[in-house]
Amino acid sequence: MNAGELIKQAKASLVAANERFGYKGGEEDQAWDLLIHAWGQEPGYDDLVPPRVRQRFKRLVARRAKGEPMAYIVGWIDFRDFRLAIKPGVFVPRATSEFLAEQAIRRLRARRAPVHLDLATGIGPVAVASARSLPHARVLGLDLSRRALSLARMNAAALGLGNLTFMKSDLFSGAPRSLRGLVDVVTIHPPYVAAGELGSLVEEIREYEPRQTLTDGSEDGLGLVRRVAEEGVDWIRPGGWLLIEVTPSEFRAIRTLLKSAGYTDIRSTHGSMRYTRVITGRL
Ligand SMILES: C[S@@+](CC[C@H](N)C(=O)[O-])C[C@H]1O[C@@H](n2cnc3c(N)ncnc32)[C@H](O)[C@@H]1O
Repeated sequence: MNAGELIKQAKASLVAANERFGYKGGEEDQAWDLLIHAWGQEPGYDDLVPPRVRQRFKRLVARRAKGEPMAYIVGWIDFRDFRLAIKPGVFVPRATSEFLAEQAIRRLRARRAPVHLDLATGIGPVAVASARSLPHARVLGLDLSRRALSLARMNAAALGLGNLTFMKSDLFSGAPRSLRGLVDVVTIHPPYVAAGELGSLVEEIREYEPRQTLTDGSEDGLGLVRRVAEEGVDWIRPGGWLLIEVTPSEFRAIRTLLKSAGYTDIRSTHGSMRYTRVITGRL
């Protein structure tokens, strides 16, 4: 069987699976990515697929058809103009966070020796984006998950980023004290799903991504945001920014939190993808 025929078959089973899970699109690209991963090379449409590769490919398609995220299966995820290594057990970066990174970069670019803290950094997409775009910036990525941090460090090293450090930290608690009051931009894409709403997430997320990357266990999902708003006041310099990526429905509640903590310029902004918002606040 040639590669093109195999892709057609795989696409049909991926479409059927996606229909079951309630989402669709991209199945043909996914099938090609799985075949390239199984083969270790990029085949042409007419290339005959060796039986061993075919078996491996079928196993990968079956994993995807059960709902496992593509990123876990192929071991990488593209973000902006770079590729990050990823493994199961960590949050899969979303394309929506590219807008969060853009908002941070825009505010840091014109500053002299700016400092950017990316809280709950995961495997580091936002921190890496900022460190790559702004060689004059000092960027720190902080997270509780050792597994995510070890991937983040690997990614920064692979991309040759000397201005980026990752540290294990519960929000700000592990950040260097010397940065108190001197941070230009804090970003966070927190786990913000309300504890009672976990069950309504699509299977791909609910069944595969670790719980602590999705929810902080609070009733309204804003436990971490509340802490960041309060603690941020001690870390962000006057005129500096707090940028929070959340679901659109959380704007009003977060606006109230930010206002009472003393932030100004509180806005809900979005890029071309409207699934999430970046809430801005300035000190
Ligand atoms: C929604 S994920 C975002 C990851 C990354 N920023 C991204 O966009 O791909 C949330 C992250 O928060 C981390 N996390 C959860 N509680 C935390 C805490 N108290 N302090 C620091 N990180 C935390 C999780 O380990 C997870 O990596």
